[in-house]
Amino acid sequence: MSWYKRLAAEMVAPLVEMKAEEAAAQMAQPPRPEMGDIGFPCFTLAKKLKQAPAKIAADLASRIVFPEGGVFEDAKAVGPYLNFSLSPDILAEKTVGVALANPRHWGRSESGRGKTVIVEYSSPNIAKPLGVHHIRSTMIGAALARIYRARGWKVVEMNFLGDWGTTFGQLMVAYKREEEKNPGQPVDVRSLLQLYLKFHEAADRDETLKDEARQWFLKLEQGDREALGLWKAFRDESLKELVKLYARMNVHFPESAFKGEAFCNDRMDGTIKRLGEKGLLKDSLGATVVDLEAYGMPPCIIRKKDGATIYATRDLASAEYRHETYHFDKSLYVVANQQELHFRQVFKTLELMGYDWAKNCEHVKFGMLAFGPGMFGEEAATGSTRKGRVVFLEDALDKAVEKAHALIVENARGDEVLANAAALAEEVGVGAVVFSEFTQRRTKDVTFTWDKALNLHGDSGPYLQYTHARLSSVLRKGGDRLPEAPNWKRLATRLEKEVMLKLAEYADALSLAENENEPSVAAAYLLELAAVFNRMFADKENHRLISDDAELTSSRLALVEAVRLTIANGLELLGLTAPIAM
Ligand code: ARG
Repeated sequence: MSWYKRLAAEMVAPLVEMKAEEAAAQMAQPPRPEMGDIGFPCFTLAKKLKQAPAKIAADLASRIVFPEGGVFEDAKAVGPYLNFSLSPDILAEKTVGVALANPRHWGRSESGRGKTVIVEYSSPNIAKPLGVHHIRSTMIGAALARIYRARGWKVVEMNFLGDWGTTFGQLMVAYKREEEKNPGQPVDVRSLLQLYLKFHEAADRDETLKDEARQWFLKLEQGDREALGLWKAFRDESLKELVKLYARMNVHFPESAFKGEAFCNDRMDGTIKRLGEKGLLKDSLGATVVDLEAYGMPPCIIRKKDGATIYATRDLASAEYRHETYHFDKSLYVVANQQELHFRQVFKTLELMGYDWAKNCEHVKFGMLAFGPGMFGEEAATGSTRKGRVVFLEDALDKAVEKAHALIVENARGDEVLANAAALAEEVGVGAVVFSEFTQRRTKDVTFTWDKALNLHGDSGPYLQYTHARLSSVLRKGGDRLPEAPNWKRLATRLEKEVMLKLAEYADALSLAENENEPSVAAAYLLELAAVFNRMFADKENHRLISDDAELTSSRLALVEAVRLTIANGLELLGLTAPIAM
């Protein structure tokens, strides 16, 4: 809730015998700025007092008093509303003034102080290159981790790698077959993918290869030296590649975050023992399961017929580990919609095990990523790796960067930008792909097109980056000197006030993004801020930013800097860079 909403509520509450929180909950922004900045509706009171709401509003307007130099300059009745208007200089002080005084703190909060959140995200199945759809969990999760941190939480990042399972057995079979043909071949991720494809090609013709793969995986589970050695080589190679790709997207997991399925191996016996002790295990056609029928769910399988543990078992073991180790207040799993049932089963099973912290586990789900027609050639789709039809994330980023490069060269003003075009293209191209993750609420499917993602004038990452570059350029022209003694009273136009009102919402947007685990709220906020600023910027006649009037210039440059700072901070939270020239 914005601070001024709270203050207005505190002023009106005693007059209407309400609690301030109750009054605040009813307050809303008037539809047009000239009507006031925040309005108190009189409908509920009207019912209670059996009077017309407009009359109550008028009555309140006549009774309320505003001290000189206060946050509000007046309040007037507009129909059934009592609308408050902020004093412009106080508004400026509380937004521009505060932002400039402590830029690193602007918009941040201590509300999470003392609390720990686990944010699990990305969590790919490794030993094959990342598919483009992995960007969703990766970017949504990374943004949430940063947003929680900005809100004072202790954040523990987790990457639950799919680094165990029969795929590794398959790779071993393919690797051994290749090695026979040409000894000493390298193992890198691209060749791992080739191995994977070759395995399936061969296994389609020769069924016995699948048994062989199962044998290899079994050897791995039993700790066979050769199998373990290959597994480790495959895993290390994948991880090396993964970390490089993450860095391109400004994602940096600490080493300790990579605790995947393999990590759970020696914890599972304990988990299964506890499940048994609680009387939760049942035999079902030879498999061991937790019966969830009473909760309208299929059974949660703990051990398959052949004794092998599965995905759910590992998630249970991992959840226990996470709680034991970090005593989290909240544990988020940023994973696609498709796994909804899986997580409901896992969380319910944890609850049945008697863990009251199960209620603090949350599946932060998201929709699918689809592409406009022909974006990556007709063949490509987000389809299966097996058929070789997956679009690799790295290739998608490369293509975005190539397109961004063309765009920059086309729009560049000045040789400096051109000289820097390659580096800039990386920032803008990657930014375009990353930001498109935040253009709608996460549970919706996203359709990605180059036109949308790279539109310099639309709701895109590059648009925000471009706005940031423009703001930076204004500040450079202004001599990069921040005003020493801005006079906030000089920021008095309607549009300036609108920009400042938007600035006042920054912390609220981050709060909402945290509460709803929804980085798109922060993205939408930044787009709105850029839009009001650009409206003011376009009205050059009334808003010359740099003029002979030193006081006005310094006040306006301060406003520009506050907006620039907010956009830069916000982009950083979402994982984008903020170029200073474009
Ligand atoms: N590795 C899984 C996949 O690619 C996602 C893991 C999600 N996280 C979890 N704790 N189960 O489908």
